[in-house]
Amino acid sequence: MNKAKRKAIIAGNWKMNKTRPEAKALLEAIKPLVAEAAGKIEVVACVPFTNLETAINVTAGSNVKIGAENVHFEKSGAFTGEISADMLTELGVEYVVIGHSERRQYFGETDETVNKRTRAALAAGLKPIVCVGELLWERECNITEEVIARQIKLDLWDVTAEQMANVVIAYEPVWAIGTGKVATDEQAQEVCAFIRAQLAKLYSAEVAEAVTIQYGGSMNAKNCAGLLAQPDIDGGLIGGASLKAEDFSIIVKAAVEG
Ligand code: PGA
Repeated sequence: MNKAKRKAIIAGNWKMNKTRPEAKALLEAIKPLVAEAAGKIEVVACVPFTNLETAINVTAGSNVKIGAENVHFEKSGAFTGEISADMLTELGVEYVVIGHSERRQYFGETDETVNKRTRAALAAGLKPIVCVGELLWERECNITEEVIARQIKLDLWDVTAEQMANVVIAYEPVWAIGTGKVATDEQAQEVCAFIRAQLAKLYSAEVAEAVTIQYGGSMNAKNCAGLLAQPDIDGGLIGGASLKAEDFSIIVKAAVEG
């Protein structure tokens, strides 16, 4: 399978931004700008929990899909402040970001909890966007591949080949997130190809070839075309630039062409 046959996905990761009226306004602005991508690539907005219902209502009947930014791994119970996969699917949520580096850095997320969340999301019918990526000093110490291989192996433990059809991997070098320091096209391609090779080892060449692998980290309207043209980059997980309708739509258009 070549790149053209894989599903390209541009997903916005809004992080902790936007009240409900602001979310409604942003999605209303995004919808017409990305309508042309319908049937060509997948467009997703991953929004704060409080915006999910509004976002699902506003995007009903459009080609914009909605995702959450995290999910708990237990079905229900005494987990104050957490949200379960069933709570998300019942709302109509389709995607969920798991293991974002901000959760790993600030909220004690580990590969073990990323794996538990991923399996819980899949069991409930959600499509997890599993984030992996190295720290700056891990890159400087030349252990990027070791770090990524370990994350891929642990984060996807016990995820079956069949389930992999619903898994998206986002390669987000931590040093590139929110810093304006984007990975070069070559650096991003190199690691995305490495991820695909790891998936081929863990599953099969067929499974690996079908998985959507996104790049994320300071992707914007200016640098997206080069990144999205790379053979193993099938889309992007977009933070800052997803909060501007025009910029987000330029990235979506680049992915359609990519
Ligand atoms: P950024 O964030 O585009 O603002 O760097 C990307 C992400 O955190 O997913």
